Amino acid sequence: MSSDDKLILALPKGRILKEVTPLLACAGIIPEAAFDDPDARQLSFATNHPDLQIIRVRAFDVATFVAFGAAQLGVVGKDVLMEFDYSELYAPLDLKIGKCRLAVAEPIDLVEKDQPRRWSHVRVATKYPGITQRHFAERGVQAECIKLNGAMELAPTLGLCRRIVDLVSTGNTLKANGLVEIEQIADITSQLTVNRAALKTRPEQISGWIERFREAVDGS
Ligand code: PRP
Repeated sequence: MSSDDKLILALPKGRILKEVTPLLACAGIIPEAAFDDPDARQLSFATNHPDLQIIRVRAFDVATFVAFGAAQLGVVGKDVLMEFDYSELYAPLDLKIGKCRLAVAEPIDLVEKDQPRRWSHVRVATKYPGITQRHFAERGVQAECIKLNGAMELAPTLGLCRRIVDLVSTGNTLKANGLVEIEQIADITSQLTVNRAALKTRPEQISGWIERFREAVDGS
């Protein structure tokens, strides 16, 4: 088999990876041993299928690799799909993992006196400036976004801005930083995502993997 016949499956590092691993097993994919070693510097991994290679990259970068066709399949959060809106990405399957929500939050001592419905302008720290601006624009509010890549919850405490837009799962991070969720923007789960052009040129190979993942999700 030439390397051109190989499919690349891009997976996100971090907490989603733990939830993806059992799904891989249900779909009959066994990565080489180094995949389970958190200290390994290796980024690309063979699997028990000679035509399937796995790469491990940052969550936002999974979407970029798949959109540009450098990977043909990927596990991408709905948050990332909404933020980038890449036309080359097709998300045929909800993997029902990584469940959380994207929400607006602010300090607990601001909640009682705040009137979000009267805002005309809001300054927000977020990893999601695109979603945030669209969300507020829908009700005529201009959102000024300060882009952060993590630890958004620190922004209000340190006076960067009073509101944040971030993912909330258990709510523990908000609570630990004196913040309260005041508005939900979207429910988020991870999606199996494919490159549209690859699906056209290699329909059987890619559809086969979509079906295997579908059966894995239905059986889990
Ligand atoms: C995410 C998110 C919040 C936290 C929410 O960060 O950005 O900070 O999880 O989870 P909780 O509601 O269960 O506390 P993550 O830990 O994935 O790291 P990041 O800041 O690098 O995105």
